[in-house]
Amino acid sequence: MPRTDAFIVRSSDQVPKHPLLKRFPVPRNFGVTPGSRIERGRTWAAPAGAVRTKAFEIYRYDPDGDDNPRLDTFEVDLDACGPMVLDALIWIKNNVDPTLTFRRSCREGICGSCAMNIDGANWLACTRYIEETGTPAQIYPLANMRIIKDLVPDLTHVLAQYEMIEPWLQATTPAPDRERLQAPEDRAKLDGYYECILCFCCTSGCPSHWWNGDRFLGPAALLQAWRWLTDSRDEAAGERLDLLEDPFRLYRCHTILNCTRTCPKGLNPGKAIAQIKKMIVDRQS
Ligand code: SF4
Ligand code: SF4
Ligand code: FES
Repeated sequence: MPRTDAFIVRSSDQVPKHPLLKRFPVPRNFGVTPGSRIERGRTWAAPAGAVRTKAFEIYRYDPDGDDNPRLDTFEVDLDACGPMVLDALIWIKNNVDPTLTFRRSCREGICGSCAMNIDGANWLACTRYIEETGTPAQIYPLANMRIIKDLVPDLTHVLAQYEMIEPWLQATTPAPDRERLQAPEDRAKLDGYYECILCFCCTSGCPSHWWNGDRFLGPAALLQAWRWLTDSRDEAAGERLDLLEDPFRLYRCHTILNCTRTCPKGLNPGKAIAQIKKMIVDRQS
């Protein structure tokens, strides 16, 4: 393969299912205001008698106090908790510090609520094995989001961006008596897009969204936009493209593909965005 092709992701199959990415080489407190600097917190020793233990460094932030964010270290008893990072967090909350705050619901990669930054890569805590993490495991909330508490990001803005793409079926053809039918080959066009669980790992990892998140819709919302553009039952493609054809909303994507690399469902938002751009070109010709 020519060198220039080496980094082009042509299919989500190329994205490893278990990438072991390490932290981006940026100093932790680089460029942040004094009040946001992360300080060393307290260390919680493993319970007496624990044999197999592992350290977890976890970002803590309490909005009700004046203290800076801090990094607490917890020694987890691996023989007393399950195999996933989420299991370790639940063990800490149940056995060590009940104030540790994080979101979770399904614990099987379906709800998207446990998305966080694990060893420098955005992923779901419930689908990341503890044994795949470094020592200590480094657990932060999703980057580039306002933090409500500890590992809980405020998703208000990114959900508003999702709402903006009008993620529902739009058709002027009168609804049939039963459901709107779809040929199997048309249904297959949704594969790779309908599986998105809106965890926002991709949007949090997108450099364009870091700099222009107020106007760039980001990979999660744009992948969802493509999911409706490619749905044979939807009849609002023209209006949807009008909404997206904008220097910021769509074209701030510079095909860096952080989004595709970090998607814990193995989806390819970068490809979805490229297909939207192609559809806009096609309708002009
Ligand atoms: S595309 Fe992947 S990373 Fe982005 S919101 Fe959907 S499931 Fe999460
Ligand atoms: S491909 Fe586009 S949306 Fe994905 S990370 Fe890069 S700039 Fe962001
Ligand atoms: S708890 Fe639902 S995706 Fe992790």
